[in-house]
Amino acid sequence: MRKAMAEAEVGDDVFSEDPTVNQLEKIAAERMGKEAAIFVPSGTMGNLISMLSHCKRGDEVILGDQSHIFLNEVGGLSALGGIHPHIIKNEPDGTLDLKTIEQKIRASDLHYPPTRLITLENTHNYCMGSPISPEYMRQVGNLAQKYNLKIHIDGARIFNAAIALKLDVKDLLCEADSVMFCLSKGLSAPVGSIVCGGKDFIHMTRKWRKMVGGGMRQSGHLAAAGIIALNNLTERLEEDHSNAQKLAQELASLKGIVLKPELIKTNIIFFRLEDPNIKPESFLKDLEAQGIKILMIHEGVFRIVLHREISEPQVKLVIKAITVLMK
Ligand SMILES: Cc1ncc(COP(=O)(O)O)c(C=O)c1O
Repeated sequence: MRKAMAEAEVGDDVFSEDPTVNQLEKIAAERMGKEAAIFVPSGTMGNLISMLSHCKRGDEVILGDQSHIFLNEVGGLSALGGIHPHIIKNEPDGTLDLKTIEQKIRASDLHYPPTRLITLENTHNYCMGSPISPEYMRQVGNLAQKYNLKIHIDGARIFNAAIALKLDVKDLLCEADSVMFCLSKGLSAPVGSIVCGGKDFIHMTRKWRKMVGGGMRQSGHLAAAGIIALNNLTERLEEDHSNAQKLAQELASLKGIVLKPELIKTNIIFFRLEDPNIKPESFLKDLEAQGIKILMIHEGVFRIVLHREISEPQVKLVIKAITVLMK
């Protein structure tokens, strides 16, 4: 990957003249089954410019209360886009209840902001990395059609969903007007995300990308890593899923760890520490001292994410370290 990055043929991508970026965007659009694609520095920017392109100031977007866009993207949609978030409780599997979505879609009324967009996350980071099924997507698609709404997918880990459900990634996106996915994270590129959608939509995202400072010059050096990620590294996500499952099963057998391995479908594990003798902060520090970095999402609730650089020996190490701490 580093060699490909060093040797990439580059040009000025602000003028769409970088051949490596153009190649990456073409491959990405084809993989997602969409007309066009745009390379962006991060998933956050990809989601932001997608929402800015679908919505006008004062429009409303329906999204989950556990979604990354709502929780972790600095409220960019409101702060920069004047877009009103209409929040619905996420179900434990990451979906939004269909009846609730329908109830929340605004009628045409002087007092209401117009509903423009439904945003879903697949896989759902804070809902155990759950993959969202194409059957559910079809139902949301029917609703969107009925009320003339657009659908955006925060698919930061959409390939994890496709692998877990044993489907082509396109099958998860038939109803989506746009999708953002990350080349970093499990796909192992150092930087970058992609937004895919229709030609006119992507044309608009290009203007927004420039406005929010994401127009890059010789970004082919970064895109070269993305091409390798897309061409060679999607299938290997299966390894992360099986390592996550092994780790989850072992951790679940430890007294003081609350975890249901049957809920782990991809590369993300959540567990709760329930041992009155162990302080969550010191649990975290003790692991960090051994080179094991996990995230405390809130007091006593932890997230572990598996990726290419954590293979079986590291999984064993983590199991051993946590087993010793729980004794
Ligand atoms: C579901 C989801 N969407 C979007 C993002 C944002 O990606 P980035 O960190 O590249 O901005 C993340 C990051 O973890 C994520 O988990």
